[in-house]
Amino acid sequence: MSSNRKATLNYGDGKSIDFPVLGGTIGPDVVDIRTLYGKTGMFTYDPGFLSTASCQSTITYIDGDEGVLLYRGYPIEQLAEKCDFLDVAYLLMRGELPSTAEKKELDYVITHHTMVHEQLNRFFSGFRRDAHPMAVLVGVVGALSAFYHDSTDINNPEHRKISQHRLIAKLPTIVAMCYKYSIGQPFIYPRNDLSYTANFMRMMFGTPTEEYIVNPVLVRALDRIFILHADHEQNASTSTVRVAGSSGANPFACIAAGIACLWGPAHGGANEACLNMLEGIGDVSKIGEFIRQVKDKNSGVKLMGFGHRVYKNYDPRAKLMRETCHEVLGELGLGDDRLFKLSMELEKIALSDDYFVSRKLYPNVDFYSGIVQRALGIPVSMFTCIFALARTVGWIAQWNEMIGDPDQKISRPRQLYTGATQRTVPPMGMR
Ligand code: SDX
Repeated sequence: MSSNRKATLNYGDGKSIDFPVLGGTIGPDVVDIRTLYGKTGMFTYDPGFLSTASCQSTITYIDGDEGVLLYRGYPIEQLAEKCDFLDVAYLLMRGELPSTAEKKELDYVITHHTMVHEQLNRFFSGFRRDAHPMAVLVGVVGALSAFYHDSTDINNPEHRKISQHRLIAKLPTIVAMCYKYSIGQPFIYPRNDLSYTANFMRMMFGTPTEEYIVNPVLVRALDRIFILHADHEQNASTSTVRVAGSSGANPFACIAAGIACLWGPAHGGANEACLNMLEGIGDVSKIGEFIRQVKDKNSGVKLMGFGHRVYKNYDPRAKLMRETCHEVLGELGLGDDRLFKLSMELEKIALSDDYFVSRKLYPNVDFYSGIVQRALGIPVSMFTCIFALARTVGWIAQWNEMIGDPDQKISRPRQLYTGATQRTVPPMGMR
């Protein structure tokens, strides 16, 4: 990682200081400024971390200009086509794709951890039935740490491994329970004779009154959606998981923190916001007026599902998601789905409008994911829960990498203070 290159900072009165420039395997180099404050008494200033690398990582690489996304070096397009979600989970956690035997073992381990403690069911009854499922998910996942006192030593690799397996295995069960609770239907127990994603769909849409018929085309489509959402380098929720983990918090609490951050409409909540936006536009004839509102900064209206901090070209996941849309809508005979046609028209208009092109605003993973999830029967309020289910794999891989990083310290940024200088408390009568 080191190089013999340096960056020189000239910071007034003829003073200057050199910092080492570090290079990775691919992507931008970094200026190692860890000694800046100690040597100059100054901080860097980078709200939103537009130019800041918070860590080094070997898990996911994004080239925002070229629209490239690699998980452990493998292009997302190849993984989406040739692997299933547990293959990708193994890859993200262990660094290599599993052999047949390794995959069989992971399938077995995850399958046999899908049930949750029976007392966890009681957490749900404390929520109103109309609570947002993400509010329930944050609470229940955070509560998991109360059930696993046998694996709380984060410095023990075996404890970390069992926690990873439990989280990956139980998120589908808990997400399905959030949905069932919201519609007043009984929880459906997982089954060990179904694949990871088929099991999830049965827990979501099955009932005790009849056999749930698995549709392999729809299972494959949802499995691919999980793959596309599995990891994405140091995005806001992954950084939240890393920051929480840097204090030594247990992995269940860290994943709950990631879920809370993902909920925001600027991040994982965008797919729900995007579908609501499409419903609000209504039909193609209203697109022009909507675009006008988006361009009017005072309107506060954004084109949800468009734009990205890193992708300044097409998000490769959006292309794959659009293909999945076609597949699912075709399988379900919904080829003329009005929202899908509206979204494609909106994309075409936006991509021919200089306002968006000049700002490098292209569709991101959230633009089409809502339409395909809606076609799969997943309600809008559950979209971000699905995102959290898939991203748990990336979060836990990144958390595990952080714990094992010798450079890792507790995350504690500083600030540029612009508040009051020291002053004396006046007596009440003089305030
Ligand atoms: C995800 O980080 C990740 O990797 C996230 C994610 C992952 O997998 O983890 O990829 C998942 O969160 C995808 C993004 C989902 N969010 C949305 O679709 C919400 C809509 N998008 C925006 O809120 C915005 O694009 C962000 C938050 C995604 C990125 O914001 P940035 O990088 O801080 O960019 P910015 O807000 O500074 O925008 C630059 C310009 C501004 O205009 P000007 O001030 O230059 O005139 O573009 C405008 C913004 O106003 N702009 C938009 C816009 N996004 C940016 N204008 C209208 N509609 C939009 N969607």
